[in-house]
Amino acid sequence: QNTVPLVKFKRNSKITCLKSSLQSIVSPEIDSDSPPAQTRVKILSEALPFIQKFRGKTIVVKYGGAAMKSEALQASVIADIVLLACVGLRIVFVHGGGPEINQWLGRLNIQPNFLNGLRVTDASTMEIVSMVLVGKVNKHLVALINKAGATAVGLSGIDGRLLIARPSPNSSQLGFVGDIATGELAGIGAEKLILLTDVAGILENREDPGSLVKQIDIKGVKKMIEDGKVAGGMIPKVNCCIRSLAQGVRTTSIIDGRLKHSLLLEILTDEGAGTMITG
Ligand code: ARG
Repeated sequence: QNTVPLVKFKRNSKITCLKSSLQSIVSPEIDSDSPPAQTRVKILSEALPFIQKFRGKTIVVKYGGAAMKSEALQASVIADIVLLACVGLRIVFVHGGGPEINQWLGRLNIQPNFLNGLRVTDASTMEIVSMVLVGKVNKHLVALINKAGATAVGLSGIDGRLLIARPSPNSSQLGFVGDIATGELAGIGAEKLILLTDVAGILENREDPGSLVKQIDIKGVKKMIEDGKVAGGMIPKVNCCIRSLAQGVRTTSIIDGRLKHSLLLEILTDEGAGTMITG
């Protein structure tokens, strides 16, 4: 006996929410180059195997960069999350502060200090960072998700001892900066980690935007680092993926947050929206 997911949505609000999310695929922000309705429902039905595969699974989405700074992109990320939650995926949305931290430090006349590109977080900066991140940005995102029809709960690492960090080795220079103790993702049994970034993904040749590596394993990506093909800001992203895989996360993806609906593309289609790194 197969359970049809819709049967499970007892609460009216969820049905409405699912309907309006599906509505946005079947009749999206109709612009002139929208594909015909037949194509759109075909795409919708192709998502079914992925919905079945990931329903009930925990997907961690790390959100920052361009996707956070542009309001249109932010709205598309929120819409994707609501749709994914409506069809039963368990989304953990991890966010940064976007431009707001610097804006508020500026408004309060606290000079941002950087050491080799890294922020120096002294006690008064920390106070603002926590006010902005936990009090403002987090609640704003929760409100947007709630308004779009899903139910979000906003937490910070301090709540329920969710995350425990130790001071980072250079905290004497950088101030209140720490590393999370290992196992942070294993603890929530995440199936997938998705990093929404400002790049297309890993490129085989950094000069050639057409050379996107669609899928690669840890061994392959370590070789790319050795060969200097993966360098600069991509290294911490790749290391984050490798660490997560070591903790038992099944797949990790570095995807293009500058692309509208890149989350849906990555999760609900075969081809995805960036580079998938597997164990
Ligand atoms: N949607 C499938 C998944 O999430 C495939 C994603 C493939 N992504 C890629 N960048 N190659 O597992």
